[in-house]
Amino acid sequence: MKRLLSYLLTICLLFSVCACAITPPEPDSGTPDTDITNNTPPSPLETEDPPPVDNDTGGDTGSEQPSDDTVPPEQTDEPVIDPGQEDDTQSPDETEEPEEYIRTIDPYAPMVALTFDDGPHELYSQQILDVLEQYHAVATFFEVGYNARLYPDILRRMVDLGCEIASHTNAHHDLTTLSRDAMLTDLAKLDQIIYDATGITPTLVRPPYGAVNSTVKYESGRAMMLWTVDTKDWYHRDAQVLIEYFQNYGNLDGEVVLMHSIHASTAEAMATVVPWLIEQGYQLVTVSELMAYYYGELLEANHYYNQNYFAKRDRTEYPLELPAEPMQTDIPP
Ligand code: NI
Repeated sequence: MKRLLSYLLTICLLFSVCACAITPPEPDSGTPDTDITNNTPPSPLETEDPPPVDNDTGGDTGSEQPSDDTVPPEQTDEPVIDPGQEDDTQSPDETEEPEEYIRTIDPYAPMVALTFDDGPHELYSQQILDVLEQYHAVATFFEVGYNARLYPDILRRMVDLGCEIASHTNAHHDLTTLSRDAMLTDLAKLDQIIYDATGITPTLVRPPYGAVNSTVKYESGRAMMLWTVDTKDWYHRDAQVLIEYFQNYGNLDGEVVLMHSIHASTAEAMATVVPWLIEQGYQLVTVSELMAYYYGELLEANHYYNQNYFAKRDRTEYPLELPAEPMQTDIPP
């Protein structure tokens, strides 16, 4: 009998122990409120939440309560932390992603075309390209033959970055002093150099010194492009002056800005100017992109684009997309 009693006692003790372990909130309910809120907020709150939810939804049977209870865990799964973790794991492998960056142009947002003449320059063109690449920006480079043939790699890098390569003639002569045939021969020489380096024949020309006559304007078989903003970077050759020129200019929307890639000061200034322009909301685009997206025009051969041309034009309401194929030249035989 004693053994039976001791068995019963131990069984009762076990039950009481189990009961205490299963129902800890009960003793807590008698303890001070502060302890309750601190120790057991989750379980009572979670069980109390469903009723008000049901009241809001129309007070159907309590059968929805458990269903609601089963939802939260699913919702915690839904945020799918995994992708974030995958992103974290991918971040080390992102070295290839910058190359896949696809630049897009908002045709209704501000845009400006930076242009650089007289290069490519061994150092300064590369510095300018470094900045453009860093900020996913582009520009147009009007190159001369005696530099272009020295640095085909730089020309290829320009194309790879989405920049536009244009002609500033082979020998940088005043084209108005040349016969028409001599002008065409000069332009053809640089065309060949650029084509050999990049596979692209430039169709856009900026005449040296901005010097033009009717032959240069309308008989080159190319589009003759001057500028609308002259920074005079070749004159002052001072990075800070160039930076302040941009920052004090005012509205640059739709402008074609003239600079030169053969000056250290210009390259130095771009490290500040490019991010500053982007901060101001400008998209940096090529000349051809500016013409299409901002002015709604595709460049045409034997057309002359100077300050007066742009002064007569407002931003188009009908932006064009730049065709994959470049402007067709109309080079005379
Ligand atoms: Ni020049």
